[in-house]
Amino acid sequence: MSLKIRPVEENDAETCGKIGYEAHKSISSSHGYPSEQPSKEYAIGLIKTILSNPNSLGVLAERRGKILGSIFLHKFPPSPVAVIGPLTVHPSTEGGIGRVLMDAVIVQAHKQNYNQIRLVQSPSHIRSFVLYTKTGFTLQEPLFLMQGQPLKGKNNIQTTNVHLIENEHDISLCNELCMSAYGFTRETELRHAINQGVATILEHEGITKGYAAGIGMFGHAVAQSNEDLKTLITNAHEIMGPGFFVPARNQEILVWLFENGFRIGWPANLMTIGPYQETLMPFLPSLAY
Ligand SMILES: CC(C)(COP(=O)(O)OP(=O)(O)OC[C@H]1O[C@@H](n2cnc3c(N)ncnc32)[C@H](O)[C@@H]1OP(=O)(O)O)[C@@H](O)C(=O)NCCC(=O)NCCS
Repeated sequence: MSLKIRPVEENDAETCGKIGYEAHKSISSSHGYPSEQPSKEYAIGLIKTILSNPNSLGVLAERRGKILGSIFLHKFPPSPVAVIGPLTVHPSTEGGIGRVLMDAVIVQAHKQNYNQIRLVQSPSHIRSFVLYTKTGFTLQEPLFLMQGQPLKGKNNIQTTNVHLIENEHDISLCNELCMSAYGFTRETELRHAINQGVATILEHEGITKGYAAGIGMFGHAVAQSNEDLKTLITNAHEIMGPGFFVPARNQEILVWLFENGFRIGWPANLMTIGPYQETLMPFLPSLAY
């Protein structure tokens, strides 16, 4: 019987979440990593949150009424980047379903005029790396998810120049910095972090040295130097979610985090389709890009 591809609806969240949980449990346990989706409740909650976002859409594959897997596509207007994830297929039905789902959302992204598509892959899983490579993605940036306790108050890095982002002027300063790092702004995500009360900016003698749209798996940060990035990390009251991503090539930040008790949770890869400006400034990517 043929495979049916259709949008994910609200009442699919539970089944898709359970499949996501099973898929990640299966892959993480075979590699000895903690699961990216640690419980069924987390996995179902994640899908419900995605479905409540008007800038996200989901596609699922089903056969004889049985859901086999799902995938999601996200937009962050005005950012020109569309992001894919999570993609999960039930471990008992792996084999071709991932490809069909990937093709479906790539077509959607192109239809909506997005030629920059990105995702963060878990490289412990060769299968997903092959799938993404075959669907046109290139590995740009190996990452590590860093796990540890907030450093606020435990470090003697100068902290007085960091404050919460509260006004439009701060937002425009962050946008300028983001523009030089990425070639575009990430204002939607920045505003989301501001609403959560976790967006910070570092200024020194009238110069914007960096900003963080939260330190965590869904946050991102850009800084002029590694010292500035350390200051932003040090001033985070909380680390949101299971940790935050650091580019593996940033040896200085990794060593500094190790010295401060952080450990690697799991590796990941930032992969892209379409134009990509390599970020030369120190930065922390989010789970999206
Ligand atoms: C990743 C996942 C979605 C893939 O789903 P799937 O239905 O198995 O994917 P597909 O079969 O369409 O594609 C996998 C491809 O990898 C190929 N492959 C697997 N191992 C390979 C290897 N060692 N070398 C080369 N190719 C390999 C397969 O042959 C297949 O390619 P083909 O269809 O052209 O033959 C599924 O395994 C899953 O849910 N995993 C757990 C969650 C996860 O890791 N999600 C992605 C997070 S980044």
